[in-house]
Amino acid sequence: MELLKNHKTLHMMNQKLVLILLLAFISANNVNGRHSSPLHHNHHGHNHIKGYFEYSAVTCRAYTASITDFGGVGDGVTSNTKAFQTAIDHLGQFGSKGGGSLLFVPPGRWLTGSFNLTSHFTLFLHQDAVLLATQDENEWPVIEPLPSYGRGRDADGGRYISLIFGTNLTDVIITGNNGTINGQGSPWWVKFRAGQLKYTRPYLIEIMYSDSIQISNLTLIDSPSWNVHPIYSSNIIIQGITILAPVRSPNTDGINPDSCTNTRIEDCYIVSGDDCIAVKSGWDEYGIAYGMPTQQLVIRRLTCISPTSAVIALGSEMSGGIQDVRAEDIVAINSESGIRIKTGIGRGGFVKDIYVKGFTMHTMKWAFWMTGNYGSHADDKWDPSAIPIIQNINYRDMVAENVTMAARLEGIAGDPFTGICISNVTIAMSPFAKKLTWNCTDVEGVSSDVTPQPCAALPPVQGGKACDFPEEKLPIEDVKVHMCYYKPKYM
Ligand SMILES: *[C@@H]1O[C@H](CO)[C@@H](O)[C@H](O)[C@H]1NC(C)=O
Ligand SMILES: *[C@@H]1O[C@H](CO)[C@@H](O)[C@H](O)[C@H]1NC(C)=O
Ligand SMILES: *[C@@H]1O[C@H](CO)[C@@H](O)[C@H](O)[C@H]1NC(C)=O
Ligand SMILES: *[C@@H]1O[C@H](CO)[C@@H](O)[C@H](O)[C@H]1NC(C)=O
Ligand SMILES: *[C@@H]1O[C@H](CO)[C@@H](O)[C@H](O)[C@H]1NC(C)=O
Ligand SMILES: *[C@@H]1O[C@H](CO)[C@@H](O)[C@H](O)[C@H]1NC(C)=O
Ligand SMILES: *[C@@H]1O[C@H](CO)[C@@H](O)[C@H](O)[C@H]1NC(C)=O
Repeated sequence: MELLKNHKTLHMMNQKLVLILLLAFISANNVNGRHSSPLHHNHHGHNHIKGYFEYSAVTCRAYTASITDFGGVGDGVTSNTKAFQTAIDHLGQFGSKGGGSLLFVPPGRWLTGSFNLTSHFTLFLHQDAVLLATQDENEWPVIEPLPSYGRGRDADGGRYISLIFGTNLTDVIITGNNGTINGQGSPWWVKFRAGQLKYTRPYLIEIMYSDSIQISNLTLIDSPSWNVHPIYSSNIIIQGITILAPVRSPNTDGINPDSCTNTRIEDCYIVSGDDCIAVKSGWDEYGIAYGMPTQQLVIRRLTCISPTSAVIALGSEMSGGIQDVRAEDIVAINSESGIRIKTGIGRGGFVKDIYVKGFTMHTMKWAFWMTGNYGSHADDKWDPSAIPIIQNINYRDMVAENVTMAARLEGIAGDPFTGICISNVTIAMSPFAKKLTWNCTDVEGVSSDVTPQPCAALPPVQGGKACDFPEEKLPIEDVKVHMCYYKPKYM
């Protein structure tokens, strides 16, 4: 085992022998994450006692290896694409045996292209580890467009694969003690704005067709486009993520649950150039044909700064439907809108059973915004009879200050947005506020205890009843994260 720590020796060995020894070594390095251990917190709040690290996860792992075991070099210059893929391919061979495997990324700057995850696997970034996404476009393979989108979001045809990509997986975790993933997105933003991109920009993390996903305790910086994109997946926990992008960077959405079931997003801090959370389910005729909704989604304890976009957007791609979204304990600072429904004729689908409570907003253009004529079609084959259904939208217990316009609610003529309920909401207008505080067209609903007085389309309800918020929990709320620990052998 000591032999393998010596990289010079390792490189001189025959490849096959290295592999056999490596597997034997990893098997032997079986740190059972479930035994109790005498850990203490140091002044950083992390454990370094006896070289153990503590982390919280749905599943603890049995086998661990470090990226340095596979030739990784954290100098910010050497490409680690091959090291990551080799490491993950080898660790993937353990499958679920003993709880699966963990790849440790130690302190350093780890330049890399895209790599694919495997099942029963944890990628762990040390707090001083930075994954640096390569800026070389040629290092990004191009993959098929998403079936529910029919084309790339930036350009026709394929799309650059995401930095961290996974498909058809079960039980996959990306976590760390607040380690960093830096997308180095600025050249992508420049090319996008200049119309020079051949394909759609990569995301930082995309997981497709997967079940049981945890993404937690990380900082994501400067993504080329969207940051976290779970799609066609279920049972997802996204927790303790900091996402930072310049507020003028294009399409740097924070977290985009897309055609996903049973998702929990909590304790996140997002500053971005687009929506902090954008709930999606496919685009026009492609999304309608695919027909996979996003449902059973809880968003809580989110802080968002998004001067040009929404704190929580529903759409605009919602053609597979969005149902049963519960958001609570949200703080918005200097954002364009609080909650925004974006749709239009041709989208089809539905947005229904939406519940939001406990929302504090400072400096907003609109607290509430609904847009029924969003446009932005995938192509000219959209169906003009595909009218979206928007119903049972509940907003309550909110305070906002320095707001330019309380609400701009625009439904679709002949297809009103119905069942809107707004209660116990106090909005203090900015000195520069519009004279018209509520502007409502083609919407129907009720209000109760709302200041300033809502539009006539939302008359006060008799008896001052609070809007609905479900009392029974979603299944994902009962999924527990445990304390796990392991001992990286470099210490
Ligand atoms: C990663 O997965 C994608 C999609 O399945 C595939 O096209 C690509 O070749 C994979 N990359 C590697 C390095 O295996
Ligand atoms: C992944 O799952 C999807 C949906 O079930 C399926 O269509 C696809 O063939 C699978 N891909 C692989 C590589 O197994
Ligand atoms: C994680 O790091 C980011 C960026 O340095 C910082 O803003 C954030 O407060 C950190 N989060 C925690 C929980 O330490
Ligand atoms: C991860 O983040 C969660 C939620 O923010 C926090 O409670 C937990 O202490 C963090 N764990 C580690 C190991 O940093
Ligand atoms: C009204 O909303 C505030 C939060 O903005 C909350 O503290 C209060 O309990 C709510 N009142 C009622 C009657 O629900
Ligand atoms: C109020 O909002 C305006 C923009 O409408 C902004 O310029 C101003 O700084 C805000 N004031 C405070 C006290 O946040
Ligand atoms: C109110 O909304 C309608 C429909 O979008 C729009 O035509 C009108 O100009 C708005 N009025 C004001 C004063 O903003």
